[in-house]
Amino acid sequence: MKKVITYGTYDLLHQGHINLLGRAKELGDYLIVGVTNDNFDRDRGKLNVRNNVLERVEAVKATGFADRIIIEDYVGQKIDDIQKYGVDIFAIGSDWEGKFDYLNEFCKVVYLPRTEGISSTQLRAESQKTVKIGITGCGRIAPRFVNESHWVNGVEVTAACDIDFSNTISFVTAQNIPNACQDYEKMLMLVDAVYIATPHLSHYTYIKQALESGKHVLCETPLVLNGQKARELYALAEARGLVLMEANKTAHCPAFNHLMVMIKSGVIGDVVDVEASLSKVWGNKALREFNPEQAGGSLFELGSYPLLPIIKLLGTRYENLTLYSRMENGIDIYTKGVFRYPKAICTFKVGLGVKTEGNLVISGTKGYALVPSPWWKTDYFELRYEDQNENKKFFYKWDGAGLRYEIHEFASCVLNHRFSSARLRRHESVCMADVMQQFAERRNFMEI
Ligand code: CTP
Repeated sequence: MKKVITYGTYDLLHQGHINLLGRAKELGDYLIVGVTNDNFDRDRGKLNVRNNVLERVEAVKATGFADRIIIEDYVGQKIDDIQKYGVDIFAIGSDWEGKFDYLNEFCKVVYLPRTEGISSTQLRAESQKTVKIGITGCGRIAPRFVNESHWVNGVEVTAACDIDFSNTISFVTAQNIPNACQDYEKMLMLVDAVYIATPHLSHYTYIKQALESGKHVLCETPLVLNGQKARELYALAEARGLVLMEANKTAHCPAFNHLMVMIKSGVIGDVVDVEASLSKVWGNKALREFNPEQAGGSLFELGSYPLLPIIKLLGTRYENLTLYSRMENGIDIYTKGVFRYPKAICTFKVGLGVKTEGNLVISGTKGYALVPSPWWKTDYFELRYEDQNENKKFFYKWDGAGLRYEIHEFASCVLNHRFSSARLRRHESVCMADVMQQFAERRNFMEI
């Protein structure tokens, strides 16, 4: 019996796939089809696959060509599969010509003619509504946002504005954005959604104005520095049927997400302690980050990152939070926070003027998770146990500046009318704003 194997994503199954599977089947007597797993596709940078792996397997099954369907999960699996199933021919479309020659060592490699004029990418693009995004605040993060948005289907940055119009002009020119807007109000008329990348204190007004104009909002972190205001804004978004999302990039990063769900499913037992630290020591004290008038300081600037694992794992109902800060020229150059939960204790450290080891350690009754610095752009972590033989290391990809993950989630929420993201729930974001407010009001606060 001659066995043939072929692989693909088979998203939005189309005639090209059907023709290819038919041609592959004709090469032998038994056809094995490898369908890529969702995680594997994401790791390969395919963020926009529409059908999940179960739907894609069902679609391949329905063609009637596959005698066996397997899931492709990792790089190198093709060699394992060829040997495991005793495969004679590896077949793939001619768009891959030459790319799989290395498999000739294990079986015959055949490149089959590809059907012209159709692809999943094209079908996705044709059926995709595009979310037009306007950026307000053309500062340091804005160009990164534009670059990263190119990796996400269904979004397009179509306008920008800044309080300094000359900034707007140079930004839109450099980034090839069609509209330079004189003011925010005009920009709101041109777009479906806004990305707010202005200094912290302007967020509240910009968010409110956008929501009142019926626009979805992705706002840089920290959303606002006051819990009540955060509640008010989320309630307004909900009442208007709009997405309001805090742009905390760590929350959307694949490795961090996997770590959170693994820990929640008990791999290190009950979580008893979280220690998260993040510091960025900058020489230039003229930056906004050091200006008390502009809500500068370590907690406002960096706090939402270490608060994330604490709040995600232990929740928003802590019994007590004490904040200890070293103040200099009106801002905290260092803050350490201690959360007491009913059955856990968590600490975080943030520093603009004090350097710390920037790792994340989550300790549980069975083991602990270590995410080395810089854990907030996680691409690697370890689970460690008393018996070192049980230790496990996990590796991931962190693509580009990492903003594409949050942009993708934002677009998905807007297009699918999903108003809350499991990656950062609204009440979790509100809890962060409560912490910011506690600091602003110097409650349970001690200077060191
Ligand atoms: N294929 C084909 N003709 C097409 C499209 C795909 O023969 N018009 C083949 C590919 O060469 C591959 C298999 O179908 O052997 C599965 O391809 P897949 O990557 O899932 O499909 P694409 O439509 O190419 O998807 P994308 O646009 O996401 O790359």
